[in-house]
Amino acid sequence: MKRNWIRNLVGLALVAVGLSGCMEPNQGWYGTENAPRSFSSEGERLYFTGISSSGEQIRPVGGHHHMQMHGGSCATCHGADKQGGTIMWPRFWVVAPALTEGALEKEHNDGHDHASYDESSLKNAIVKGIGPDGEPLHETMPRWRMSEESLNELVHYLLGEHSH
Ligand code: HEC
Repeated sequence: MKRNWIRNLVGLALVAVGLSGCMEPNQGWYGTENAPRSFSSEGERLYFTGISSSGEQIRPVGGHHHMQMHGGSCATCHGADKQGGTIMWPRFWVVAPALTEGALEKEHNDGHDHASYDESSLKNAIVKGIGPDGEPLHETMPRWRMSEESLNELVHYLLGEHSH
């Protein structure tokens, strides 16, 4: 009982820190004026909002507690233009790699080298946090839970015409 109470207090403190953090320009990319208001595909919608048009919310597993509490989606870290970059999130610097088609196919992605992604290795990275070489991705990249349908949409959005 007592422990729950303490946990709630800690939770409130984190919310307060999170809210004040929203005032800062560097608090992730998502939520900036760059975010589109309508989406040209289901995958794009998922990338930006983390919620499908049928209301399914994709869920990050593990990773940082900030993500668990505040939600967010791919664009939060990888950017509205998928260029990735270094962001202050939530209180320390995170370097998220670019997720453009070119970057995913390239073997040298800004110092983050990997074999070229295809549909199945990209799914592995998103769901299991395993890169195309079998190396685990850093834990700042959350592992995601979503329906097969949403995963397909997201992967098609990222790989573009190369996934068809
Ligand atoms: C909290 C920040 C954060 C969020 C949110 C996030 N990512 Fe990442 N992602 C990262 C970081 C950091 C890395 C680099 C991990 C590493 O260096 O091992 C990464 C790596 C990746 C990679 C591997 C790229 C490569 O070059 O090998 C893919 C693919 C990826 N993310 C897809 C996604 C998708 C799709 C979403 C949304 C469902 C998402 N990420 C949401 C932070 C994030």
